[in-house]
Amino acid sequence: MTTPADRDRRILELHDQLVEIEQRLIPTGLHIFGQPSAGKERADMLRMVASFDRPEAGTRALPHLVAEGLGLPYPALSRKEKALTEEKIRQRERVDGIVTSAIQEFLGSGVDAAAFLLQTIANVIPEDSLPVLQLLETISRELEANTEIEALLRALRGEYIAPGPGADIVQNPSILPTGRNTHAINPYSVPSEVAFTRAEMVAACLLDRYLSEHRRYPRAMALVLWGLDNIKTQGEGVAQALWLLGVRPIRDGLNRVTQVAAIPLAELKRPRIDVVMTVSGIFRDLFSPTVELLDKAVRLVAQLEEPAELNYVRRNILEQMTSDGCEFDEAATRVFSNAPGNYGTNVNFMVLDSHWESEETLGDLFVTRKCFAYGRDSRGRQIEGREARLAMDRALARVEATYQNIDTFEIGITDVDHYFEYLGGISRAVEKRARARPAIYLSDSLSRDARIRTLEETVRLETRAKTLNPKWYEGMLKHGFRGVAEIENHVSNTFGWSATADAVDDWVYTEVAKTFLLDDAMLERLRALNPHSVHSLVNRLLEAHGRGYWHADPEMLAELREIVADLEDQLEGVA
Ligand code: BEZ
Ligand code: MG
Repeated sequence: MTTPADRDRRILELHDQLVEIEQRLIPTGLHIFGQPSAGKERADMLRMVASFDRPEAGTRALPHLVAEGLGLPYPALSRKEKALTEEKIRQRERVDGIVTSAIQEFLGSGVDAAAFLLQTIANVIPEDSLPVLQLLETISRELEANTEIEALLRALRGEYIAPGPGADIVQNPSILPTGRNTHAINPYSVPSEVAFTRAEMVAACLLDRYLSEHRRYPRAMALVLWGLDNIKTQGEGVAQALWLLGVRPIRDGLNRVTQVAAIPLAELKRPRIDVVMTVSGIFRDLFSPTVELLDKAVRLVAQLEEPAELNYVRRNILEQMTSDGCEFDEAATRVFSNAPGNYGTNVNFMVLDSHWESEETLGDLFVTRKCFAYGRDSRGRQIEGREARLAMDRALARVEATYQNIDTFEIGITDVDHYFEYLGGISRAVEKRARARPAIYLSDSLSRDARIRTLEETVRLETRAKTLNPKWYEGMLKHGFRGVAEIENHVSNTFGWSATADAVDDWVYTEVAKTFLLDDAMLERLRALNPHSVHSLVNRLLEAHGRGYWHADPEMLAELREIVADLEDQLEGVA
């Protein structure tokens, strides 16, 4: 029987999910080259920028200032809470409401008016609010100036283009103005101190989540590390791997991160987790010293004289050396990437072209592409892409959880095919080798509470916040032909999560069919704009059904088949 307390708890969780969808920052349309953002989009962006402490700019997060002014702690989720309490919800709504009003006041009447409003309704003194409001003013001005077309023309004439850092606006507002030559990073600065501090919380939440679902720590985890992400976050993904292993980066006399040191178990207060790292080709090329650092971290941890139950790296390596009779170097291989000069997993192409029969093939392809080891052996010789399929098979066979960090609000797991090719691909590879599907997690280290979600939760959230959200698809449809193609892409990328990880609920496909195809007015609009993408969309849904990912209602299927036939007539007529 459901008790009133259970019911109240469910309602609070539901409330939390609704707020999460409502507050999710989504791009409402594609960026048009040469055009600045405006209106609600700009207000949302500024609100997001203002919600982080920025020690480098000497500003504090506006929500924190408001909460402090009201005499409250900022109402955040504690590590043990699944949902905010009713009291915290009310407090957060009050704080967020004031922040939104302040941003509106700022956009309408300027810095001083917004500072006055904050002082009047939330006791925030101007000494505290002015720095952040002035930062918003600078950003707002820079958002207005768009020199992308001029910069392109200069580039075509072979002229100089000023450089700017690579990141997104929320992480690093100094990327503005756009239209500059993006520069990358000094790999020796990675992970930055801020990244290492932030990663502690994310790694702890990740392990808490696994622990709460499995009542023990994972024997080993597989992590996906990308280059662009680690540029944007100054190496948060790298730092998460170091935390899981229980080591900290050490800087040399030139302030370069070249060594690691073990964090004592007494300080870590948990076992060291074994991690298998697959890095993208871009990461391998940009972060060669970091690849060595990660490999060094594994080797260091493996050699610590610690009890097996507190050092899973050492335990797994010793076990493998005994059972396989292999050398330490073979058993300690943990950093994998493509063969030198190669990039990508090709799992995305195989899925999207429907060129596969069994799901196992997808995981096998991932390993074929990614089984090249990088690092240094025990004698100090550099290993640069040695084929190590057996070592990868063995390492993946122990994995119980897979994980990737989402680093930006701009691109989520259904916007591009790269998340499913990597995180999906490795999860399928683990499933066969470990003979069990791993738990699959993503973090959202951008939101104020470092949130860990399962893949299934993330697919649901993205579906609700983007694919099925009229704000999102109407934003896309303003772009006509390309907009319909984007909708189709989202559905195909969602399908990629069925193919690689069985992570998509039936309702997702049902609602996609109802929203875009079984609504006559919508179908007509889409067909008029781009019948080719509509054709691909219907076929993708039929493929989802055919492969057993969608248990569709037979009447619905019959309607979809009719739509395909109609479209084929239309497209033949065009051809
Ligand atoms: C990377 O930044 O490493 C990356 C970007 C896109 C796809 C795959 C990897
Ligand atoms: Mg299946």
